[in-house]
Amino acid sequence: MPTSRTVSAFGTADARPLDLVIFGGAGDLSARKLLPSLYMCHRDGNLPEGTRIIGVGRHRWDREAFVNFADESAQPFVDARYIEPAKWQGFLQRLDFVHLDAAQAADYPALAAQLRSDALRIYYMAMPPGLFAATCDNLASHGLIADDTRLVLEKPLGVDLASAIGIGEVVSRYFSEDRTYRIDHYLGKETVQNLMALRFGNSIFEPLWRTPFVRSVQITVAETVGVGTRGGFYDEAGAMRDMVQNHLLQLVSILAMEPPASLNSDAVRDEKLKVLRSLRPMSPEDVRRNTVRGQYTAGAIAGELVRGYLQEDGIPPDSRTETFVAMRAELGTWRWNKVPFYLRTGKRMQERVTEVVIHFAEVPHSIFDPGSTLQPNRMVIRLQPEESVRLTLMVKQPGEGMKLKPLSLALNLDSAFTTRRAEAYERLLLDVIRGRLALFVRRDELQAAWTWVDPILEAWRAQDEGPRPYTAGTWGPAASSAFMAREGVQWSEEA
Ligand code: BG6
Repeated sequence: MPTSRTVSAFGTADARPLDLVIFGGAGDLSARKLLPSLYMCHRDGNLPEGTRIIGVGRHRWDREAFVNFADESAQPFVDARYIEPAKWQGFLQRLDFVHLDAAQAADYPALAAQLRSDALRIYYMAMPPGLFAATCDNLASHGLIADDTRLVLEKPLGVDLASAIGIGEVVSRYFSEDRTYRIDHYLGKETVQNLMALRFGNSIFEPLWRTPFVRSVQITVAETVGVGTRGGFYDEAGAMRDMVQNHLLQLVSILAMEPPASLNSDAVRDEKLKVLRSLRPMSPEDVRRNTVRGQYTAGAIAGELVRGYLQEDGIPPDSRTETFVAMRAELGTWRWNKVPFYLRTGKRMQERVTEVVIHFAEVPHSIFDPGSTLQPNRMVIRLQPEESVRLTLMVKQPGEGMKLKPLSLALNLDSAFTTRRAEAYERLLLDVIRGRLALFVRRDELQAAWTWVDPILEAWRAQDEGPRPYTAGTWGPAASSAFMAREGVQWSEEA
């Protein structure tokens, strides 16, 4: 019988050894994120004694081939400053590999032979969701799911509400919700967690964090990368499914939620869920008016010529998939009534930046020189590439009269803290190991997000027009700025 564990809001370390099984262990995510993050956990002594990491996949690999993969494909993704040869060798000792076709029941005894009965088991599904059901069935029929086995699911968790429900049903047959860890890696970012610190660790913002003191909220997640080698996947997804449905809506929910009673995982997720459920549904007419889709064409990023989306590998020449979205979302609550949340994300944009801008109300009456244009206060919270908070205030210009100008109070968190910050995946993997669920998406949150997204995707499908072209290396289609101008606002880089 598994030993019992108490899981507090902050989790507890399990004394047992760990068998961490990565389905899709030879894949891209494993190389770029999972193995490098697990190495960092190992290096810092954060893996339980006796931890083994078992890659699983269709490659006919043995342990040695997986070790070579870790050396050649994963190590380059570890910050070179942290590679210590002895520690890296120690990490490699933990690795093993099992050849397994997830859909083939006959392949599972080989996995069973690797697993220890006294170890805590974690299955990490870094593979297409189409394989989740067969994998869970096969694990169960081979007796490989214990009462406390944990499951980690990677996105995409569905392509719409119906498929997300389908995945949820299959998974819940074998894993209770408190053993299911749905990854949204944005929740693992220190900077995203800092939004909670900013909101709930300071009392000055809370009374103003609502209508009518907040006039609008802007969230931008701009990337300079294109679709790279993921063309086939991306063309089925597009920016809405790839970024808005998960990362941007999670940011909205953290920015807009009511203060939770504690950091307990369900206390936080209950509040986030309420936000997601309060997103105002959009009619096809709202979608036409309040959304802009774009698709990049050839251009230049940092002086380098880059291809257009339709010329990328694996993209059909007539694809209508959006690589850019700008939209207005609204929350139907007392706190946020009629406060627009402008969301924007795109690939191949001018800069890589993730930023939240809170626009506060203008002063009701100006007593200053007519020449002083009073700018409403703005708080700019930058999450990437650097972390900073800027609050613009109006101050008096020296000299005669009372002329005012805006200046910023600025906080640079990167220079304030020199300690190493864990990468999102490192933090999340540690949380899975320690049984902390707060930074994982609950099933009802996921479904609430899809419930809001589905009609938007449906309305786009029904429109004659496809996404508007924008040149790679710009801030998206001209229609995005025009949309904001109609709203009487500007995107932050234009302000
Ligand atoms: C992933 C998307 O979830 O997030 C990618 O699938 C995107 O398309 C990535 O590039 C962005 O993450 P980050 O951490 O670089 O902002």
